[in-house]
Amino acid sequence: MSSGFPESNELVRDIQLDRHELLLVGGGQTASTALRTLLTAAGGIGVKLCTRVNDAADEAIRVCPTVILIDLRQSGFDGLDILATLKRSSEIGAVPIMMLASVETSGIRDAAFAGGTTDFLVFPVSTTELVARIRTHSTGYLNVIKRNRSVSAYESLQSELRSANRALEESRRSVDTRSADPLDSEWQLRLSGLMQVGIELNQVQDFHSLMDRILSEARHLLHAQAGTIFLREGDALRFAFFQNEALAQRTVTGDPPHVSSFRVPVTDRSIAGWVCLTGQPLHVPDCYRIPVGSPYRFDSSFDQLLGYRSCAMIAMPLKNHAGKILGVIELINPIHSDGSFRAGFSEQDIHLLDHFASIATVAIERAHLKENTILRMIKMAEIRDPAETGGHVERVAGYAAVIFEEWSRRRGLEGIAFERQRDRLRTAAKLHDVGKIGVPDSILKKPGKLDPEEFEAVKRHTQIGGDLFSNNPSDLDDAAREVALLHHERWDGQGYPGIEENGVLRGRRGEEIPLFARIVGLSDVFDALSTHRCYKDAWPEPRVLELIQSESHGHFDPELVEIFFAQLDSIRHVRDAHQDHPAQGS
Ligand code: C2E
Ligand code: SIN
Ligand code: SIN
Ligand code: FE
Ligand code: FE
Repeated sequence: MSSGFPESNELVRDIQLDRHELLLVGGGQTASTALRTLLTAAGGIGVKLCTRVNDAADEAIRVCPTVILIDLRQSGFDGLDILATLKRSSEIGAVPIMMLASVETSGIRDAAFAGGTTDFLVFPVSTTELVARIRTHSTGYLNVIKRNRSVSAYESLQSELRSANRALEESRRSVDTRSADPLDSEWQLRLSGLMQVGIELNQVQDFHSLMDRILSEARHLLHAQAGTIFLREGDALRFAFFQNEALAQRTVTGDPPHVSSFRVPVTDRSIAGWVCLTGQPLHVPDCYRIPVGSPYRFDSSFDQLLGYRSCAMIAMPLKNHAGKILGVIELINPIHSDGSFRAGFSEQDIHLLDHFASIATVAIERAHLKENTILRMIKMAEIRDPAETGGHVERVAGYAAVIFEEWSRRRGLEGIAFERQRDRLRTAAKLHDVGKIGVPDSILKKPGKLDPEEFEAVKRHTQIGGDLFSNNPSDLDDAAREVALLHHERWDGQGYPGIEENGVLRGRRGEEIPLFARIVGLSDVFDALSTHRCYKDAWPEPRVLELIQSESHGHFDPELVEIFFAQLDSIRHVRDAHQDHPAQGS
């Protein structure tokens, strides 16, 4: 991925993002210890000593300082020599270096700057100044790291996803070569269906949709009326998803009835537990006639709850390539295409499910990975501005969900498909400003008004954010890209980044701006006005509402403004539930 961010290799090092760590090099023992006492007392700066100048590079690699201070008062030219070594290092070359000289050595100042020194102080210097300078340089360095980490988190995701894709590809190919029996045409047909599924599962990256898809494909392949997926969580299996064709027909939305999640311990007492424990598939011809002497029993409470009768069942472990069991998939009640019951599952069914499970497992691992990375990215977006911790991100997501729910309700949209859309919007909303990782703090945190050039730099956060999601085709990536790229477009066409038309750049207008971006745009401005920013105070609510109203047709989609006011109580509720809490650390 090409990105305009500073590249450096210290990304992987474990630096705490809110801690200033000074490495003090080359002072005599007494002077150094005194300085350390001083700085530690001044607060918030950790100090490590390295009295021998020649050890400085090794020490720095070990200590991971956020700033280095070379004391030239004793070391003189030795201290200057070590500068080149430090700067050459791929691991610590980016750490800012300060020099402290006495009047007699201050003549080497020019050489020091030429060698890459960030700051040069001549003793005596006031403690206040020294501490302030150390903090400034250290903070600058930490900001670079934060930015790089956000980018690298996404890059590592992309490469992990690529290898997961390869694994998926391989598992499909192994199905291909292992099991084709040229004589059995039905088997061939079913296998080719399986291979197609492998390709398609790969495209689904939203976790819920993936589970859904896995179950419907498995049911389709085995002609089963119902199915369940359990996912392993520590010592338990969580009942994660189920589908039941017979029951779905009884509900308005066609979705299965709602069942709250429950857990089954991983022991041999339950069917799913036994499968998870042994790693073996299990075929139960009738759940209510399990032979005495079997360790497991069928838990009929679920059937009772739903008014259903489970009969034949196959339970298959979801085992990854390393043999780790991520969960169990169960298929229940085989049927004919006309819906009538079949006698039971066949050997071939079991065989097919075995292959299917290995493909599904790769897709599940991949979705987990993706979900974790998205969570990490949201964290990154949250810590981007230490003056605000998390509140903004949560509130914007909350407002967006409220507005979308009402928008959908007015159109009669409901059910699981709609809920997933809403969840996708929530995640995308949390990531709306993730592109700010590419905008310098000196601009974002500027207390006053931005000059035009600075504002141009801020505007790039839309493009940078959009680019982060442009490599993966998935519903979630599409939503995140749309929102990150277009949340500053305006209904009247005066927003940014705009599109080129006949060589002229113009803002997108009206419904050229996708719904999610229009919703997040409104939510973002409401939050920006309602809360304190480094460049503005929080506005009183009436003034905020007045602006929102007056920008109907201007900045905002009029229907969304109307919905916003209709749902004002819910909006206020979200606002009050996610107050900013002050940032920790310095
Ligand atoms: P933000 O602070 O989250 O603001 C988001 C959006 O809320 C702004 O998008 C703007 O549409 C609206 N907004 C915020 N404050 C005001 C206000 O006082 N009056 C009105 N009418 N609308 C307001 P915009 O303008 O595209 O700015 C995007 C981001 O650029 C801002 O996000 C902020 O991070 C930064 N920014 C904008 N102006 C300034 C500024 O004067 N100083 C600094 N330091 N940053 C600024
Ligand atoms: C932030 O830095 O997270 C807030 C700025 C914005 O919403 O545009
Ligand atoms: C900023 O836009 O960087 C400050 C406001 C905020 O943290 O949301
Ligand atoms: Fe923004
Ligand atoms: Fe924002």
